[in-house]
Amino acid sequence: MTEFSSNLLKWFKTSGRHDLPWQKNVNPYRVWVSEIMLQQTQVKTVVPYFDRFMESFPTIDSLSLASIDQVLHLWTGLGYYARARNLHKTSIIIATELDGQFPDTVDELVSLPGIGRSTAGAILALSMNKRASILDGNVKRVLARFFLVQGWPEQTKIKNRLWEIADKNTPVRNFSHYTQAIMDLGATVCKRSSPECLCCPLNTECKACITDQIEHYPGKKPKRLIPTKKVFMYIVENELGEILLEQRPPEGIWGALYSFPEKLPTARENEKPMSGKNHSPQLAILSKNCLPTIRHTFSHFHLEIQPKKVKVSKNEFKLDDSTHRVWYSLKRPLTFGLAAPVKKLLAEL
Ligand code: ADE
Repeated sequence: MTEFSSNLLKWFKTSGRHDLPWQKNVNPYRVWVSEIMLQQTQVKTVVPYFDRFMESFPTIDSLSLASIDQVLHLWTGLGYYARARNLHKTSIIIATELDGQFPDTVDELVSLPGIGRSTAGAILALSMNKRASILDGNVKRVLARFFLVQGWPEQTKIKNRLWEIADKNTPVRNFSHYTQAIMDLGATVCKRSSPECLCCPLNTECKACITDQIEHYPGKKPKRLIPTKKVFMYIVENELGEILLEQRPPEGIWGALYSFPEKLPTARENEKPMSGKNHSPQLAILSKNCLPTIRHTFSHFHLEIQPKKVKVSKNEFKLDDSTHRVWYSLKRPLTFGLAAPVKKLLAEL
């Protein structure tokens, strides 16, 4: 057994969690339900839901015979409802196709709806005391810190490395205690923020702790660098207080929605000029009145909008039918779709 595992097991005896509801009357069904409920949800939230669920559906057969509405009703407030739908689907598969017998291999378990590799490992280790590794969020954090694994744990290469480490450190017996121990350490000591390294049973060997880098592990999701594009938006107002809106091209951002006429900055106005043509070049000649810039973020770029107020006379500013422009009165209810920043700017007018 590695020193990591033996220290963890010693700690578990005195400081691990031993009285959780799913640790009583242990069977694969109860452990499976608890593991699904515990995904993205804290123990203290799960406990009452688990108790009520077991009261209503004490066996996999009873769950498989329930309606999805009954299941969802018991799940109300726990969130991530796909978990409840998959739980129900899987109960029907096990009851009708597998003769009510829970599969006892990782491969069979992961073929069922809602069961991933780590959940499969937890079911096998905790309810059948079979040798299987787990790698949930808590375990990723413990391993990344102890073994100083750099990088974001959700990245395939890093995740594979963490699975290797998890496998290597799973002892040859005592699987159930070891599995509960590593989850408990992650949840109660090696916490995401304010980890309690002083009382950690692994602190003398934990590479991140020894080198005082705990807060840098595990690595964060890399932020994608996206470019910033600049655009002028003209808030053109006539003497009646109406605002000029134009329909955007059907393709691209805000496709077919109504927006203010735009002009792209010239090279002088923008250090990083963009290619592409201006929507409304003739507006550039009008007198302008700048408002504070607005930043709007799309998945692939930030848009920095410089709104400019322009006063025109309705008679002199003829609308050409082909441009899909309209004079919009702020007093009239809207009958068409608006781009998000346009809605905001109009509300401020
Ligand atoms: N989180 C996931 N599985 C758990 C378990 N069995 N006990 C406590 N927290 C958990």
